[in-house]
Amino acid sequence: MNARPDAASLPIRLADYRAPAWRVERVELDFELGIDATEVTAKLLLRRDPAQHAPLRLDGENLELLAIALDGQPLPATAYRTIEGGLEVDGARDGSVLETRVRVLPAANTALEGLYLSGPRETGFLLTQCEAQGFRHITYFPDRPDVQSSYTVTLRADRARFPVLLAGGNPDGAGELPGGRHWARFADPHPRPSYLFALVAGRLEKIERDYRTADGRDVQLKIWAEADAIASCHYAMDALERSMRWDEQAYGRNYDLDVFHVVATHDFNMGAMENKGLNIFNTKCLLADPDSSTDDEYRRVEAVVAHEYFHNWSGNRVTCRDWFQLSLKEGFTVFREQSFSADMNSAPLKRIEDVALLRRAQFPEDAGPLAHPVRPAEYREINNFYTATVYEKGAELVRMLAGRLGAEGFRRGTDLYFSRNDGRAATIEDFLAALGEANGIDLTPYLAWYGQAGTPRLKAHGEYDAARREYALTLAQYTPPGAGQPHKQALPIPVKLALFGADGRMLPLHLDGQTAATEAVVVLTEAEQHFVFRDVAERPVPSLLRGFSAPVILECDYTPAELALLLGHDPDGFNRWEAGQQLALRACDALRDDADPQAVAAWCDALAALFDDAQLDAALLADLLTPPGEIELAERESVVDPARIHALRQQLQRRLAARIGGGKLDARYRALAAQSTAALDAASQASRRLKQRVLHLLALLDPASACDHAATQYRDAPGMTDRLGALAVLARHDGVRGTESLAHYRARYANDPLALDKWFALQAQLPGEGALARVQALEADPAFTLKNPNRARALLGTFASGNPTGFHRADGAGYRLYAERLLALDALNPQIAARLATAFNGWQRLEPRRREAAHAVLATLSAHDGLSRNLAEILGNMLK
Ligand code: PHE
Ligand code: ZN
Repeated sequence: MNARPDAASLPIRLADYRAPAWRVERVELDFELGIDATEVTAKLLLRRDPAQHAPLRLDGENLELLAIALDGQPLPATAYRTIEGGLEVDGARDGSVLETRVRVLPAANTALEGLYLSGPRETGFLLTQCEAQGFRHITYFPDRPDVQSSYTVTLRADRARFPVLLAGGNPDGAGELPGGRHWARFADPHPRPSYLFALVAGRLEKIERDYRTADGRDVQLKIWAEADAIASCHYAMDALERSMRWDEQAYGRNYDLDVFHVVATHDFNMGAMENKGLNIFNTKCLLADPDSSTDDEYRRVEAVVAHEYFHNWSGNRVTCRDWFQLSLKEGFTVFREQSFSADMNSAPLKRIEDVALLRRAQFPEDAGPLAHPVRPAEYREINNFYTATVYEKGAELVRMLAGRLGAEGFRRGTDLYFSRNDGRAATIEDFLAALGEANGIDLTPYLAWYGQAGTPRLKAHGEYDAARREYALTLAQYTPPGAGQPHKQALPIPVKLALFGADGRMLPLHLDGQTAATEAVVVLTEAEQHFVFRDVAERPVPSLLRGFSAPVILECDYTPAELALLLGHDPDGFNRWEAGQQLALRACDALRDDADPQAVAAWCDALAALFDDAQLDAALLADLLTPPGEIELAERESVVDPARIHALRQQLQRRLAARIGGGKLDARYRALAAQSTAALDAASQASRRLKQRVLHLLALLDPASACDHAATQYRDAPGMTDRLGALAVLARHDGVRGTESLAHYRARYANDPLALDKWFALQAQLPGEGALARVQALEADPAFTLKNPNRARALLGTFASGNPTGFHRADGAGYRLYAERLLALDALNPQIAARLATAFNGWQRLEPRRREAAHAVLATLSAHDGLSRNLAEILGNMLK
């Protein structure tokens, strides 16, 4: 019964999609809940597609079938059979009712998919995770998103052990049962796919708030958590209320049930889950309090709460026809969250953060052996496709569409999309059709973006003709072959742009007889096109792809002086930062090749000037002072030596620190430290961010005095941002005080799992020789366990993805240790093992010694017997 699905099974293809032969109109589920064993009775009202004659097949995995009846008659053993991954039943007709009773084993479920136990068996609680295919681990069912059903769910359990019983939908009765047991029933008026099913049972506390929707519905908002965490849920409640209001205003979307439950668990594979009426969150994305959460974590909680809430429309009311359409709900919902967060916080900072994430996580994915289109054509294990490409690149595609239609047109389009597809399981084509039809615009050219993997390169070249006062901009696109697509087609690429004069002011634009203001969007649709601007008074400096108007890699032959001009003057906050990043890349190349000293000077001089600019937002300055990360630097190399890249980036930052000067850095640090508070407003967060950046730069120049500051900051920190920032500097630059402070932190937060995760992660990132031994020592810490995904990610995931010099030791010892842990993890939780294995992405471009070591490790690992389908698929792709 526990046999692994065949790791070598055939891929599932989008082209093979067929509508279901059997649907389920209504489901009645009855749970007899227990920690070790739970019994599930399911009554399914079946509907047959008259045009299809396939037998009734239900998905089911790890289920022990206890009873089965059709239309009230127990079925003889000859009338049904277990097949690979499910059950086949004879004799069903349209309108038949199939009743099954199965047993599942929550406490033994370490994969955290289906029904499982969170926490210790004595005190923990039961919960479910069904996306993408967890429901088949709970009962026999056609477990696919285009089967939408009305759910009635009854939970029965011991009252003392499980005082709280929750399922999605509206409450529909509750009461006592003999023997200290009780029951509760929930009915959901909205038909929904099985992946949105959820239940929660156990000892939980709650906070509540009343909410009235714009269309007049009274809703009770309830957030549930274990007793020691409930006090940290208030910020999430505020964020939830803000999200609900925003979705009413920005998209005209109202909540549609009488209750909205949110539950926090420490044991969760992903960030959170949008189950209808019963969102379930990883504590990491829900709990927030000043003593244990950083500013970044506060913003993340707000973003994830919004994301899950927004799914109620983009995902739940309108769901996906099949899992190939995953980005229909995820890309759109990420985009919705990005717009919300931009409205709640600083829009340019949010854009910088999101583009940095895209470049760090999605560009490398799109350039390597795991590359796949936003809408993949095939998969073996759908859980491997919850990727940066589907989420983040998918959001960029929606952003391009929104930009193409303008704010009002986009709203018209989404209104039509929601109304036309409400209650349906839709496709990407349905999305483009609704947006287009509402505006009389054909958006089908954008479909190519969904089907083609790889990041397009956009080459830009400008020529100024002083005599004719014309500026001709040539744009050309090229996407390298990959992901089984040898010839890539040209895509529509919207390029938002402005032209700058030498004095740093924007020039008026005259293009095709139109006079816009100072900003325009041109759309490149061919491989190459020319755009001629007339009446241009002087040789301009173009600011291209403003706000990152398309997810491409821009190659433009700027001089360092031109980039410095944009860095100094571009009012588009994103492009200003971008000019600085491009200049930093030039400076980095110059250091590496011992060439072009102007590039280094240009970057340092421009930033030194901005450092003195009292008008500049502190958070933007902090970001400007941060060069692209090591992963981004590695992306530009054809042969990667992680140690060398690390050294280069350090050298670059040291040059910057020296150019600004130790005296100025020290003075700025002191000034910022003097204003230190625990307040969470934007200005306070910005000042902490800059303070941390300044301290980091100072540490590269004068570690002793930076560590003195850090020691004081650690001791007096009013909140986690300052405390963790100081700890990072001490751990890195001060052997004695680093060790002491780490021990102090370990003791102070001994009972706070999320704070401990940060302790593991911080140490996992410390670069250099000692990194591997440090990781092994941390594995021996009693708080370390592979069973908790957050903990495994904090130590092992951070080591592999956030510590290039440690993981990529030249002798391959980092790879070997990691591969052993992946194997151990795979036996417990295949989803997590597969995700962590993606840290090897990019191994083919490593310098020869590391490449051979990585290859040997990957080959051995993939030859292992009994790998999960999840891990086998990732390794197989990696070695292709
Ligand atoms: N659908 C969830 C989200 O984005 C992610 C998720 C996928 C959670 C699969 C659990 C399992 O928002
Ligand atoms: Zn989502």
